[in-house]
Order: sequence, then structure tokens, then C-alpha cells
Amino acid sequence: MKRPALKVSLSLLLLAGCAPIQTFPRPPLEVAAPAAAAPDAAMERRIAAIVAGMTLEQKVGQMTQPDVRYITPEQVSQYYIGSVLNGGGAWPDMNKRASVADWAALADRFADAALATDLPTPIPLLWGTDAVHGHNNVSGATIFPHNIGLGAANDPALIERIGRATARQVRATGITWAFAPTLAVGDNRRWGRTYESWSSDPALVRRYGEAMVRGLQGDLTGDADVLATAKHYLGDGGTFNGVDQGQARMTREDLLGRHGAGYLGALDAGVQTVMISYSGWYDTAADQDHGKMHGNRDLIAGVLKGELGFDGLVVSDWNGIEQVPGCARDRCSQAVNAGIDMFMVPEDWRAFITNTVEDVRAGRIAESRIDDAVTRILRVKMRSGLFDRPADASVLTGRADGLDARALAREAVRKSVVLLKNDDAVLPLQRGRRVLVVGASADSLSNQTGGWSLTWQGTENVNADFATGQTLLTALREALGADNVVYSADGSGVDVSRFDAVVAVLGETPYAEYNGDVRFPVPVQHSLQHPADLAALRAVSGKGAPVVTVLYSGRPAYANDLINLSDAFVAAFLPGTEGGGLADVLLGGQHDFTGRLSFAWPGSACSTGEDPDDVVQFARGYGLSYARPARLGPLPLPATPATCETIAP
Ligand code: BGC
Ligand code: BGC
Repeated sequence: MKRPALKVSLSLLLLAGCAPIQTFPRPPLEVAAPAAAAPDAAMERRIAAIVAGMTLEQKVGQMTQPDVRYITPEQVSQYYIGSVLNGGGAWPDMNKRASVADWAALADRFADAALATDLPTPIPLLWGTDAVHGHNNVSGATIFPHNIGLGAANDPALIERIGRATARQVRATGITWAFAPTLAVGDNRRWGRTYESWSSDPALVRRYGEAMVRGLQGDLTGDADVLATAKHYLGDGGTFNGVDQGQARMTREDLLGRHGAGYLGALDAGVQTVMISYSGWYDTAADQDHGKMHGNRDLIAGVLKGELGFDGLVVSDWNGIEQVPGCARDRCSQAVNAGIDMFMVPEDWRAFITNTVEDVRAGRIAESRIDDAVTRILRVKMRSGLFDRPADASVLTGRADGLDARALAREAVRKSVVLLKNDDAVLPLQRGRRVLVVGASADSLSNQTGGWSLTWQGTENVNADFATGQTLLTALREALGADNVVYSADGSGVDVSRFDAVVAVLGETPYAEYNGDVRFPVPVQHSLQHPADLAALRAVSGKGAPVVTVLYSGRPAYANDLINLSDAFVAAFLPGTEGGGLADVLLGGQHDFTGRLSFAWPGSACSTGEDPDDVVQFARGYGLSYARPARLGPLPLPATPATCETIAP
């Protein structure tokens, strides 16, 4: 399916003089790559000498990335492993509340093991982690708003500071590689990873991609620098019907120009690693299925490494290779030949090494391709200084205060929440007044932080697991005085008229990746997916006190029913651990709402994107403030069909 709407809006952007969306290859006016990424002849000679002295088995070991749950440090030395990762919810000793010292100690054990081989030149290990909104697997680490909220802040300098702070957190645990940022341009609200996308505006994703990579990587060799990952290449946010890991059906021009925009920003900032997308690409102009990205040589070796000159390493996604037809999770010559250098084979890493060696010996993979992959891996390790100075030499290693970024996160929360409605100036809340708080999300760090928080899905977390952080309820008690705040999760049996205002905190429950998909043709309406929220709001609405609703969500979902039951409505997305930032803007004073939607907000339950046939309630860029008040009034309530089948293809 073509996207004529986007073409129209892109040309309007051009007419309006906004940053144009460029298609590949990169135009010459781009900022030159930073010095750290420039080819260095002495370094290349050093790498070539190491590679020349390695056996095939050792080289394939370098290309292998198991999960720390499935490999021991001893096996890292035995198999010459190049990298490990901790997937979502993998902690030292499988202890969710492991301390920063526990993390650093485990990182040390793995790092030492990698150096304890019989290689003439020991090769340091890379440990990668999903620090996608702060160092989110680590108890005690400040968790930032998810990308969807950061997009609403429209503040690249803030993004760079968050990148710096996240890198500090990661280095405190002895880790030097973050699997971030996600550069997806989220086209469809059904997609469970919508919250990992900054915006549906490629120009914003590009600016942010550059800022986040600069923030994370610094100059690559500093004590507070980590490697960044541009992910997921390419078209992850553009899949048909928003199906996670699905098929991006579009022209090459849209795939590269729209969904590739973030990569131009990340490459300009010298990003050293790129992760491949689970999704596939169907070229609608040529009517041709190019299959899964993990097997796409044209786009990986051709466009990324060739046309765009990327000389860092390309990593596969978690068991991503098994989705290439003819491949398995422990074997995929097509993916090696497509240009993937490092293989995230979390469990079946041993068989992967054996099978890949066999594929080279049988001539299915040229040894020169293996040499190129190892060269790239060693280049990234050398550029990041690991050959000269071990990871744990950072002054941050093991320091609990390295995890703390509360003030910055609180600022980010203030800037990332969007005021959709404020009729009769119900907000700001007045100090000293009595406030009733309802909604299960009010006292839930789990709903406040969303997926990719301590665990992969963000589920099975209680507030105490976070070790730090404040729910909105706690923050309101602090700001208004505990005696002025009464909490009732479902709002039942409370005399609402005894209060000056109600704050209803509604929210999605956490999810990650495909678990968060709302599959076509199910209507996407918050109150349908979360009926208890509607019930709580009904229990307090129209009962004699104005209602301020705060919604936690990883997507803009149709919510006119909830908005009409509320006098004020705040889209807070997934703000993270610092609920105080929300209280700051709800109480006004020195803090106004500056957040503006970075995705269009739907006006019907079958509208899930920004095509001409989608009903948009609030356009991208919308957002009220105390400085510029406006009355919204009642919104239309189109009937929600039982299924969207008859509405969209
Ligand atoms: C996700 C990636 C993530 C990886 C490692 C995959 O399931 O798609 O974004 O980096 O897991 O946790
Ligand atoms: C009423 C509004 C009121 C809101 C919250 C709605 O049902 O129409 O006037 O402000 O409930 O109490």
C-alpha cells in the first residue's frame, strides 16, 4: 500500500521551509563524521595483524553474542566469545535487586575471562544492554520517559543530556555498549513498540538520533562513554497494520527516506553499531518481496556499509536470523553474507559457532567475509579504547551514585507530558486544597515506567523493586501535603463532592514488543482495552468536583470518551520513575506545559495512523499550556464498531 498522505505532508513540509526529508545517499552538506570514526591507518594495521593470527573458530567466536544467562565466564574464554548481552530481565545471579557492585563484579568476571585465552593479542569483550530509557534493567537506576514522551519534548539538547546520563549509568555497572537509540518512525498506533519511537516525523527522529548518539558515545573513549546502537534497521516502525516484526509495505523511497532518516542523524554522530530489524520489506512499486531484513544484502552490505560508508559493526537482533527462510536460530549463512557481523544468538551460541565454521569450510560463506566481520568488531573495540584501558578502569565503575539522574529525569517528565484539555482552568491544582486521587496507575511505578523496565515486559514489578523513584500519588502527597490527598484506586464509595478536585490516573499495563500489539481488526480505544479505567473515571465524573485525568500510555489511543468525562486531560505517556515531574506541571507555578504531540492522536477507534482516511482528534504539534489557555469542550463520540474490519483494509 502506498502512502500518498505522507508524500503530501512531506512536500508541504518542504514548502513550509522545514528541514527537508532526504533520501539516501546522503547529500554532501551533511556534517562530517567525527574524528573518532575517521579511518586510522595504524589502527587498521594493528587489527589486520590480529585477524591474520586467528583461527577460523576463534574468528567466529568473536562474531558470537550469547546472553549472560546461557554462558559462563569460563566458556567465554574457551570459545573466544566476542560479546555478551543481558536481555531484558537478566540480572547478576538472577537477582532483580542486584546492586551496582554486583553488576560491576559480574562484568569484571566476563571481561577477565575474555582476556584469559591463548590468543597472542588478548581481545577485550563487549557487553551490550538495553538501556533504552535509562539503564532500565538495573534496580536503583533512574528511569527516563520512554521515547514517545521525549518526542513530545521536542528538545534535542535534552536528548543529548539524557544520553550522557544513561551512559554514566551503564558505565557504573561495568558495561560499555547500549542497544539504543531506537530510530523507528512509528506509522501505526497498533504497533506494540510505538512508545520506543520518538515521533512519526522523520525530521525529528533524525535530529534526535544524532543527539542521542552524541550523548551516549561522547568521544567514545571517556570514562562516561558507551557505544550506541542505531536500531532496528530498517523499517521497523512501518510494518503493515503495525504488526511487530511484520512486513513494511512501501516503496524504496519511503523505506530509505522516511524510515532511514534517523540513521542519517546517527551516522553523522558517528554511531558505531547498527542492529537489524526483525521486520521484512515488500517493495510496493516493484511488487517484490525482499523478505526479512536479516537476510537483505542489498540494504545491509549495499546501502548501509556501501553507500553510507558505515564502518562499524552490524549486530543481529535476538534470534533474528531464524526468521530468514532456510535459516535456523543457530545457522544462517545468508545473514552472514548479507553483512551482519555480530550474531545475537542468546541460547544456541555453541551450535552457531560449529555451524558457521562448517558453512565457511563448505564454501557457503567466504572467509574474507568472516575477516571483514571480525575487523569491524575489533575496530569498534579499539575505537572505544578497550584495547588500551579495560572497561572497569572508568572512575564510575561500581558507583551507586552513577545510577542517579533524578533531577534530569524530572525535568524530562515536565517537558514530555502534553496537556490536551484544560476547560475552565481546572489546572493548575491549588496548594492546600483537598484532592481525591483515583485509578490503579496512581501508585504504580510499573504502569508509570512501562515495558523494558527491570524486566523485558515491565510486568511482575512492585514499587519496591525499583529501589528509587516516586509514583504520582507520592509526588502529589509531597506537593499538596499528605493530609490533603485521599487515594481510592477504583473511586467507589467516596463522596466526591467533599473534594476540591479529583486526579484520575489511568494507564495501560506494561508490555514490550509484539505483546503490546493491538492486532487488526480490534478497535484501539483505551477504555476497551482497560475497562477498569473507564469505571474508575465514571465513579468520579460529574459528582461535584472537577476531574483532572492523567493517562499513561505507550501509544496515542482513541480516548474521546475518557476526555469528555474529564475537565482536564494530560497525556503523560510512560514517564518513568520521576512522578515528581508530573506533579510539577499539575501544580503550575514556575512550570508550564511545553510538551506537544509528536504523533497525531486519533479521533476514532479504527484510526491508527496519519493517513487521509484516519480521523485525527489532535494533530501532531498540538498541546495546551497555562500561558495560552483554550477551551476544548465536548468531543465527538463516533460509535466504535465491534471490529474495524469494515473500516480499513
Ligand atoms: C529487541 C531489541 C533488543 C534485543 C535484546 C530484541 O527482542 O527487538 O530491541 O535490543 O531484544 O534485548
Ligand atoms: C460533565 C462535565 C464535567 C465532567 C467532570 C462530565 O460528565 O459533562 O461538565 O466537567 O463530567 O466532572
